[in-house]
Amino acid sequence: MKRIFITGGAGFIGSAFVRLVLDEHADVEIVDYDALTYAGNMANLAGVDAERHRFVKGDICDREAVMNALPEGTDAIFNFAAESHVDRSINSADEFLRTNIIGTQVLLDAAREKGVRRFVQISTDEVMGSLPDDSDEYFTESSPLQPNSPYAASKAAAEFVVRAARETHGVDTVVTRCGNNYGPRQFPEKLIPLMIANAMNDEPLPVYGDGRNVRDWIYVDDHCRAIWLAYEKGRSGEAYNIGARNEQENINVVKAILDAVGKPHELIKLVTDRKGHDRRYAIDPAKAETELGWKPQVTWEEGLAATIDWYRANQDWVNHIRNGEYRNYYDAMYGARLEKAV
Ligand code: NAD
Ligand code: DAU
Repeated sequence: MKRIFITGGAGFIGSAFVRLVLDEHADVEIVDYDALTYAGNMANLAGVDAERHRFVKGDICDREAVMNALPEGTDAIFNFAAESHVDRSINSADEFLRTNIIGTQVLLDAAREKGVRRFVQISTDEVMGSLPDDSDEYFTESSPLQPNSPYAASKAAAEFVVRAARETHGVDTVVTRCGNNYGPRQFPEKLIPLMIANAMNDEPLPVYGDGRNVRDWIYVDDHCRAIWLAYEKGRSGEAYNIGARNEQENINVVKAILDAVGKPHELIKLVTDRKGHDRRYAIDPAKAETELGWKPQVTWEEGLAATIDWYRANQDWVNHIRNGEYRNYYDAMYGARLEKAV
């Protein structure tokens, strides 16, 4: 059996990765280490194979707890754990710097002390900043790191501590930089699940600014397959951009959701823009395609339909979140914006 250590495995992408690995790699067992913050949810792991998946609740910044949880003979650490929402980082950056930077350093130190063979850092295209509208520019692995939000800055800093661990201590590292993920079990603070949940509940759909910001969307399982290939085939010290060549303007995403849910476009409200709102993300995934042999398997139409179906069929999952602390978050983030929009 091959042992791997996944952090953040109760979140959206981490839990999809756990499922994918258990389904597709019978010779792998997982220790899944997650602090269960507001974004972590044990319901995301319902039904996974308990024989090959062991969950440990813990903070990646807690050195002793990480060392205790990390088994001897671990082949790889996959670091998904992070504060991941840009809007929250604009309100308060502290937790982003703590988890995303200090936490990554703690994991790198633990990897070195325990002789873990490879460290896979799950990064993001946002470290490369923003591209101009209507240009034919794309993010490549040689694009400069020029993050614009506190979230993106913390993820860029994490990439630098990963680089330093390799250059200084010889830790074997690979970095993946993916664009916007969508799919089942995404916390409804992010665009697609928020809009699906609001549409299903006949609530206004708050679109920032002119709605013409562009994101490059990828179905979560396609991202997870790329991460696995980066672990298996990626060259040490390299970064790989992951994207499905699927640029969409936000307003079109929101209209597509309303059409699929059967609700009127009049629910859309253009609200005050996000501060420092990146205009366009667009990824050139040629390096991942050539070196890793990766390509996406799920089209935008299939993926969006499957995602909407999942939220429709799992309204308890959504309502459980929406009835909790999320309500305070939502009112603080959108209350005044929506009042002004009316
Ligand atoms: P998420 O917010 O859904 O999940 C994050 C998980 O990390 C949660 O389970 C949470 O409990 C856990 N966590 C947070 N702080 C922790 C800590 N201090 N110690 C241990 N666990 C902690 O995030 P996600 O969308 O699944 O993103 C996962 C990773 O992928 C992040 O590193 C993110 O930067 C990166 N990423 C996300 C996207 C995207 O579109 N969502 C795209 C590219 C990269
Ligand atoms: O590109 C990868 C990144 O994608 C990840 O690293 C982040 O973890 C992830 O959260 C995501 O960041 P974005 O800021 O692009 O995603 P978000 O879903 O928050 O917003 C997508 C777009 O939709 C963005 O242009 C802002 C806009 N938006 C978002 C929300 C929540 C709205 O117009 N209204 C909203 O209510």
